[in-house]
Amino acid sequence: MTLRNELPVPADAGDARAAETALPTKKVFIKTYGCQMNVYDSQRMGDALAGEGFAPTERIEDADLVLLNTCHIREKAAEKIYSELGRIRLLKAEAAREGRNVNVAVAGCVAQAEGAEIIKRASVVDLVIGPQTYHRLPQALARVRGGERVVDTDYAVEDKFDHLPKAGAQEIRRRGVAAFLTVQEGCDKFCTFCVVPYTRGAEVSRSVEAILDEARGLAQAGVREVTLLGQNVNAWAGEYEGRAVGLGGLLRLLAEIPGIARLRYTTSHPRDMDDALIEAHRDLDILMPYLHLPVQSGSDRILKAMNRRHKAEDYLRLVDRIRAARPGIAMSGDFIVGFPGETDEDFEATMRIVRDVGYASAFSFKYSPRPGTPAADIDAQVPDAVATERLDRLQGLIRAQSTAFMESLVGTRMDVLVEKTGRYDHQMVGRSPYLHPVVLAASAGAVGDVVSVSIARNGPNSLIAVGGEPEAAELSSLRKIA
Ligand code: 5AD
Ligand code: SF4
Repeated sequence: MTLRNELPVPADAGDARAAETALPTKKVFIKTYGCQMNVYDSQRMGDALAGEGFAPTERIEDADLVLLNTCHIREKAAEKIYSELGRIRLLKAEAAREGRNVNVAVAGCVAQAEGAEIIKRASVVDLVIGPQTYHRLPQALARVRGGERVVDTDYAVEDKFDHLPKAGAQEIRRRGVAAFLTVQEGCDKFCTFCVVPYTRGAEVSRSVEAILDEARGLAQAGVREVTLLGQNVNAWAGEYEGRAVGLGGLLRLLAEIPGIARLRYTTSHPRDMDDALIEAHRDLDILMPYLHLPVQSGSDRILKAMNRRHKAEDYLRLVDRIRAARPGIAMSGDFIVGFPGETDEDFEATMRIVRDVGYASAFSFKYSPRPGTPAADIDAQVPDAVATERLDRLQGLIRAQSTAFMESLVGTRMDVLVEKTGRYDHQMVGRSPYLHPVVLAASAGAVGDVVSVSIARNGPNSLIAVGGEPEAAELSSLRKIA
């Protein structure tokens, strides 16, 4: 599984048809923390709420319902929720003085992990709803309106996706030409540091039909790039025309859908990278040459303690096989430093594996003990100062690798999916096959086009295509503002 940016995702309007027929009178502000799956879940909660007459707002002060979709992966992520709830309490009091009632809901993995504890600790919260039950939001809100404080974190027996309204084409387009599609949830791997198997439950795969149906709907609405999501997405398993299929087979089916130009998937476990999936990288041009494949550590001793169930060498050989199938594929990963018992030697092994693989990008974190996970009970916790120093070194190496990778792209041509207008009139912003934002000339193409451009240079976080550079006058006005 993966987790990165803390994106404050604007709330979503949900089903456009519902919004068009019944004028919404209520507003919802949704704030999303954590991984892409939470981004997707927030959109789907927006869809469920649109059916209840909620329109999205990006201004928390205007909201009748504030919904925090939370992340529990590291301690800081969970603590942030409580400080945010403190701020919301003041806001709610202010609204009450104006005679307005604001309801507050906590969803996502903190909701799942802490349940009723949230209601106890934060008096402002009316509703706690887990990641497996959010299709019941309308009923839960009805109970809240009846004066109850509701906790609904059961693992529902029914499939929530069968019970959620679909987003309308208009709403899908509003979200952009690149979309997420959850195909798998939960994790059975039980890495000893990780809360996911407890917050998201056992592995469940959505059916081929449900996935194809959703993907077709996205494509018909104008989506060009689909990223398949799952905490352990390459463990996805299904059946098609009486035959068992894995993620490789699913990607082949999705590649046939007219309109879809790019496919990605995230996040994978090395042990589930089977031959069929590697062959899909070999055969499908539509499958982008970028793979997020976390290894977490380069030390066999630590990998064992993490219950990763593979050695560093297994990972290196796997990367060799993937690169043989798809030369030039950009690798990405996740790393944890300061796992209990990690010695200098173990950490050096992590630095070594990073050097051996050569990452286009990678995410690294200081180990954070999570209540209820086996690693949290190990005595040999690494002092924070040591972990901080290791993280700095690792991040320095990763930064150098990702900069070198971006530099290697300067002077090359690449296909870019045009996603939105840029900062200046003559610019658009798109996405490289390797997920970099690319600034390009507006004349290069319209939103939704995949265009071939030459890369002129690399900026700090983006690539600049020929024609995408700011013009001299724009630069000088920028300097004045600065
Ligand atoms: N401490 C630090 N990092 C963690 N991750 C997961 N659990 C923890 C933890 N307890 C990291 C892993 C994972 C990514 C999503 O978050 O690297 O791949
Ligand atoms: Fe967590 Fe490991 Fe499962 Fe990824 S594979 S979600 S790190 S338990």
